[in-house]
Amino acid sequence: MTDMLQFDTETARRVEAVYSTPDVIAQRAEVRALLALRPGEDVVDIGAGPGFLAAEMADEVGPHGRVHAVDPSASMRGLAAGREAPIEVDDGSAEALPLPSASVDVAVATQVLEYVVDVRQALGEIRRVLRPGGRALVLDTDWDSIVWHSTDDARTARVLAAWEEHLVDPHLPRTLGPALAAAGFEVAPPRVIPLLNTGDDRDTYSAGLVPIITAFVRGRGGLDDDEVQAWADDVAALDDATFFSLNRYVFVATSGR
Ligand SMILES: C[S@@+](CC[C@H](N)C(=O)[O-])C[C@H]1O[C@@H](n2cnc3c(N)ncnc32)[C@H](O)[C@@H]1O
Repeated sequence: MTDMLQFDTETARRVEAVYSTPDVIAQRAEVRALLALRPGEDVVDIGAGPGFLAAEMADEVGPHGRVHAVDPSASMRGLAAGREAPIEVDDGSAEALPLPSASVDVAVATQVLEYVVDVRQALGEIRRVLRPGGRALVLDTDWDSIVWHSTDDARTARVLAAWEEHLVDPHLPRTLGPALAAAGFEVAPPRVIPLLNTGDDRDTYSAGLVPIITAFVRGRGGLDDDEVQAWADDVAALDDATFFSLNRYVFVATSGR
C-alpha cells in the first residue's frame, strides 16, 4: 500500500493546517459531544495524527485520566508530541495496538480506518483493548459524498477519481455498521457530520484540501501537472461562487460487558 497517501513531513504539515480550520474544529466538538468523556477515563486515539483531538480529550479526562495517541507516522507523532497536553504518544497501528487487553474505557479512530488494510483486525483490536462496557467511536468519510462546484465538471471528476487512490476504502462508512456488529459491538444509529464551504472564505477544509489533492494526484489517472494545476486554480478562482460539501459518518459502539 505504498501507493496510498504517505503521512510524511510535508503531508503531516498540510493535514495539521486543514485540521486547524473552523470546519474541523467544529467536527471535533461534535465528536467530543458524542463521546461525553468523564474525568478519570482512559482513552486511546488510534491514528491520532497531529494530536488535536487527543489534546482536547486529555483536557476532558483531567489529571486522573489518560490519553494514548497511537500513530504509525513519525511525522504525525512529532506533531502530536508537540501539543501542550499530557498525552502519551506511541508508535503503533490500528491492526496491532500497543496496549494491554481491557486497558481503556474509550477508543477513538477518526479518519483512520479508511486507510487500514484489515478493518476486521482493527475492530478486533479495539474490542480487545476496551474494558467491558467501553465505548468506541469511529468516524470516516464516504468520498462519493463530495459535491464540488467547478467550471469543468469532467476535469473535477478525473481529479477526484485519482484522489480516491489515496486510501484503502473510500466508501468505508457504507459497511462499518455491520462490521462493528460482526466484531461484537452494540452499534447506535450512525450520525452524519457535513462539511459545507460556500463563499470566498479561504480558512476552510476544502481550501486546505486542495494542495493535498494536487500533490497526490499528479501523474495519476493520466493527469499531468498542467491539468492538476488548472483544476486547483479553477476552484480557487470561484471565490464567492465556491460550493463544496462532503459527509463524515460517525459510529458510536459499545463493547459488551
Ligand atoms: C487523515 S489523518 C487523521 C488524524 C486524526 N485521527 C484526526 O482526525 O485528526 C489519518 C491518520 O491515520 C494514520 N494511519 C494511517 N494508517 C494507519 C494504521 N494502519 N493504523 C493507525 N493509524 C494509521 C496516519 O498516519 C494519519 O496520522
